[in-house]
Amino acid sequence: MVRRCKTAILISGSGTNLQALIDAVGRGDLALELCVVFSNNPNAFGLERAEKAGIPTACIQHRDYPDRESFDDAVIAELDQFEPDLLVLAGFMRILSNRFVKHYKGRILNIHPALLPNYPGLNTHQRVIDAGDEWHGSTVHFVTEKLDAGPRILQGRLKVKPGETAEQLALRVQAVEHHIYPQAAGWVGSGKVEFRDGHCWVDGKQAQEPVVQSF
Ligand code: GAR
Repeated sequence: MVRRCKTAILISGSGTNLQALIDAVGRGDLALELCVVFSNNPNAFGLERAEKAGIPTACIQHRDYPDRESFDDAVIAELDQFEPDLLVLAGFMRILSNRFVKHYKGRILNIHPALLPNYPGLNTHQRVIDAGDEWHGSTVHFVTEKLDAGPRILQGRLKVKPGETAEQLALRVQAVEHHIYPQAAGWVGSGKVEFRDGHCWVDGKQAQEPVVQSF
């Protein structure tokens, strides 16, 4: 039997992307085994989604720790008990310390609701509307020490509609995320996509640009 990539999912909130991953794994679409869902927020609805799916959960609150490093060390100690091959950040709203990123070097994925390198940080939907951009979307990328700047794997893009509000746009981008995150995580899990020498490699070739899908 093919060994599935043991995957830890880190969340802070609702976990709709987590649900999309749970559903895709449940359909047998991905070479992933979801070994733990971790949250820094004990009230995250995503923890209930995980329990319903029979996935182990863990929670450590950052406010119980004096600084980022000591919190991150506790998270590492917790996650490592599950021996994950891959970490998937799915709305995990914490900035990771350098030592956390180094510990899991090349094995952390994030999804960010913008067409990176445009709009790193928060409030992306409103910023796109304010700028009058034609296209918006979301990016799955490897996590490196620099926030929202690691090698990009896959982008899903859509056209901004005239008069659309940030809330309406956010919902459409979220629907795109539910397609691209399971797909990109599956690519990494199967070895189609790799992090090597600080770059993203697809089918053994170094990729200069992410794969782009229009919705
Ligand atoms: C997602 O839209 C994701 O792109 C965003 O949080 C949301 C989580 O939603 N992540 C970031 O903004 C990270 N900078 P979910 O809990 O419903 O999956």
